[in-house]
Amino acid sequence: MSEASQVAGVPVLILKEGSSRESGREAQRANIMAARIVAEAVKSSLGPKGMDKMLVDSFGDVTITSDGKTILDEMDVQHPVAKMMVEVAKAQDSEVGDGTTSVVVLAGELLGKAQDLMEKNVHPTIIIEGFRKAEEKALEVLERIAVPVNPEDKEALKKVAMTSMASKLVAESRDKLAEIAASAVLRVARKVEDRYTVVLYDILVVKKAGESLADTRLIDGIVLDKEVVHPGMPKRVEKAKIALIECPLEIEKTEFDSKIFIENPEQMEAFLKEEERMLEEMVEKIAGKGANVVLCQKGIDDAAQHFLARKGILAVRRVKKSDMERLAKATGARIITNLDDLKEDDLGCAELVEERKIGDDKMVFIEGCRNPRSVTILIRGATERVVDEAERSLHDALSVVRDVVQEPKILAGGGAPEMEMARQLRKYAESLPGKEQLAATKYAEALEAIPATLAQNAGLDPIDILSDLRARHEKGEVWAGVDVIEGKVNDMEKLEVLEPLTVKKQIIKSATEASTMILKIDDVIAAAKMKPPKTPKGPEEYKSETSPAE
Ligand SMILES: Nc1ncnc2c1ncn2[C@@H]1O[C@H](COP(=O)(O)OP(=O)(O)OP(=O)(O)O)[C@@H](O)[C@H]1O
Ligand SMILES: [Mg+2]
Repeated sequence: MSEASQVAGVPVLILKEGSSRESGREAQRANIMAARIVAEAVKSSLGPKGMDKMLVDSFGDVTITSDGKTILDEMDVQHPVAKMMVEVAKAQDSEVGDGTTSVVVLAGELLGKAQDLMEKNVHPTIIIEGFRKAEEKALEVLERIAVPVNPEDKEALKKVAMTSMASKLVAESRDKLAEIAASAVLRVARKVEDRYTVVLYDILVVKKAGESLADTRLIDGIVLDKEVVHPGMPKRVEKAKIALIECPLEIEKTEFDSKIFIENPEQMEAFLKEEERMLEEMVEKIAGKGANVVLCQKGIDDAAQHFLARKGILAVRRVKKSDMERLAKATGARIITNLDDLKEDDLGCAELVEERKIGDDKMVFIEGCRNPRSVTILIRGATERVVDEAERSLHDALSVVRDVVQEPKILAGGGAPEMEMARQLRKYAESLPGKEQLAATKYAEALEAIPATLAQNAGLDPIDILSDLRARHEKGEVWAGVDVIEGKVNDMEKLEVLEPLTVKKQIIKSATEASTMILKIDDVIAAAKMKPPKTPKGPEEYKSETSPAE
């Protein structure tokens, strides 16, 4: 019996056997604890002096990263509230691409402060109300102090990208990567009236271990991590006419086993000849329309390869579906599912298709596409791990550049905006009624956890730094923040530590939302865990278990 109340001495059961229930203070305390543990886990990786984490998954694969979202993703947490925190980090990542560590740290801090208030008998509803008002005020402060920039100013975009990579493993080569990120985003940006929109999906990122990060480059066009299928095919085709084919260039096997009785060698030969003739016909259908490059999503039979080679056609097989879609956009081709439908104007165009050797591997470059907005970033780096972390860092860099291009306003970082928000919030709190005032003041304290953590991770004394910061902000130095390199308070704008307004706003919004959502829960009812079957059962056993006869 898991949940029972007594009505006139008779227990009333409302939950299934095995379910568990936690309610009231107990539930709130446990939830807050879970959220704070998650926040603690990522705290030490915040900022340029933050540490990296090494994560080993159940298959033994190793990931080394300081990216908040990746750390949480790989941690595979169990507690439902801990899972909510992971969701927040993921949402932050998909919305704005950066600030995933900050959002989790801030949410954890807010919950800690809420816990303090609850100990003092402030009701969660009041805390939530106070937090909401504080959030509104904080966002207002951010809008007011943000500095407008020109969305086409590449130098400014580069600085924002540099800041986002300062805290990553790739910090050494961030100059080069920032240049690439800014150029790539500007290339794919579309102007509608006086606003820009950027779809990051338009930028293809391909990684290949080998050489070094400094050899990472931006390529005008699309790069496929594939090679030309047959040695007899041309390795370079100018003025390419490209067919994008979704179906296999093979004789499809029937779904059912079928047997053919062959009685003599002549019949065998006739059978093989017939297969060959069908493949040749397929190739003929493509060549007949004038294609000189074939990019196929599925396999290409040996015989078909041979016929394609004889026609001087360059072919690549097993191209990824997402790459097929990009190729269609870039070259203006239509993806064909049935060869009989292929028409001349379904073919796409590119100035050059060429197989090149990159390190020990071969890759196919499609350059000078009809759509000038198609670009690829080819990431190089000493090992797989470096290339993987470079890809994640580049994702952050591309995202922040996009954020600024779409909403061209920036802030200096290093905890400066958090300090300014906290200062103004404290003033504002005085205008609020009793307990809400307490909550808004606690919100300000939680914001200060960001500069405090930056200082702590850089080996500085957070108490000294915070009091210095408070004094400087009081004097009107809006951009006073933690200079983790020099180890003291400094003007972050002069140090060119710049971040998008969009990211900071999202951190405030998501952290407040997550913490208030968790505060609102006062009852956790969990169904009993489903037990996996002891041994894999055949369909027969299942049948007998559920049969009505039992
Ligand atoms: N040179 C610097 N000096 C001081 N603070 C810096 C500097 N560069 C970046 N920061 C600060 O570091 C913080 C960002 O750290 P980090 O990139 O580790 O976390 P995040 O952006 O919150 O999450 P993630 O990048 O993992 O998604 C920001 O507050 C930023 O202002
Ligand atoms: Mg970051």
